[in-house]
Amino acid sequence: MIGRLVDGRYQVRSRIARGGMATVYLATDLRLERRVAIKIMHGHLADDNTFKTRFVQEARSAARLAHPNVVNVFDQGQDADMAYLVMEYLPGITLRDLLKDYRRLTPEQTVDILDAVLSGLAAAHKAGIVHRDLKPENVLLADDGRIKLGDFGLARAASANTATGQALLGTIAYLSPSSSRAASPTPAATSTRWASWRTRC
Ligand SMILES: Nc1ncnc2c1ncn2[C@@H]1O[C@H](COP(=O)(O)OP(=O)(O)O)[C@@H](O)[C@H]1O
Ligand SMILES: [Mg+2]
Repeated sequence: MIGRLVDGRYQVRSRIARGGMATVYLATDLRLERRVAIKIMHGHLADDNTFKTRFVQEARSAARLAHPNVVNVFDQGQDADMAYLVMEYLPGITLRDLLKDYRRLTPEQTVDILDAVLSGLAAAHKAGIVHRDLKPENVLLADDGRIKLGDFGLARAASANTATGQALLGTIAYLSPSSSRAASPTPAATSTRWASWRTRC
């Protein structure tokens, strides 16, 4: 993939991270002459319509949000059978990396990070979007101090019906009680949970 030109516009430079569903690369947007992060869905998932729909949904959910604590999505598309999503590039680490390095954060760090995450979540909830995969790997800590919530890959509209028997999505260790009981995800349930974290700091 390195060196490849996606959709005649995004030149892939290097790999940033590989996840279960997609790989994130650093790329250059040749049209606007700027660095971007491009998330490219794994080839073996390209034939799977559920994954494809989810990928497009991720772009649409995130694109509806313009907030300093949410990763900006610029573009989304398909090149041959390759689905991709273009977002602002945030050089830095994730909250998971920080926790691994320090094991325990200072109260100041904790409050700063939670404040940013809660602001991003509040903006999403205002727009009727429930993230559903909130975890340290999806909190990006940029070298310049910006803190942003990313990976809206499992996000869904709060108003969307949750059919009974529908697959449980998310990361087991971070699922909210309402999700694990297969109830509809609601912004209120999720934000209350985080708000209680906040008061405990
Ligand atoms: N905009 C970005 N800028 C820099 N790195 C990013 C960006 N988006 C994601 N990453 C990196 O890629 C990893 C995977 O991205 P993510 O969107 O969470 O994909 P996945 O669906 O595979 O979990 C993140 O944990 C982070 O390390
Ligand atoms: Mg992720």
